[in-house]
Amino acid sequence: MPADVKAIVEQKCYGCHNAESKNDKGKEKLDWDAFEASKKSKQMATKGKISEVLAEGEMPPEKFLAQKPEGKLTEAELATLVEWSAGKKKGEN
Ligand code: HEC
Repeated sequence: MPADVKAIVEQKCYGCHNAESKNDKGKEKLDWDAFEASKKSKQMATKGKISEVLAEGEMPPEKFLAQKPEGKLTEAELATLVEWSAGKKKGEN
C-alpha cells in the first residue's frame, strides 16, 4: 500500500478493521492485516468494496463520528483513498 494511503488507513480505519478489534462486525468485514497479506486478486475485490463505501460516505460509520468527529476523513484524505481504491494511483498499488 502506498505510504500516504497507509497513514490514513492507520489513523482512520484500522482501529475497527484489524484481527484484534473489539468491533466484531468491522473486523469480520475487513481486516487490513489480512488485506496486506492477501493475493492481488483478492485485494482488487476488497478495494472495490472500499471504493463503494467511500463513494456512499459510509465509512467511518456515522454513529462513530457522532462521538469522535475527529475520526472523519478530510477531503484530501478521502480523495487519496478514493483514488487508490479505484486503482488510479500512479506507479503504486
Ligand atoms: C468505528 C469503527 C469503524 C471505522 C473507524 C471504520 N469502519 Fe469500516 N466497518 C465498520 C463496521 C462495523 C462495518 C460493518 C458494517 C455493516 O456490516 O453494516 C464496516 C464495514 C466496512 C467495509 C465492508 C463493507 C461491505 O459491505 O462489505 C469496508 C470496505 C470498510 N468498512 C471500510 C472502511 C474504511 C476504508 C475505513 C476508513 C476510512 C473504515 N472502514 C473505518 C466499522 C468501522
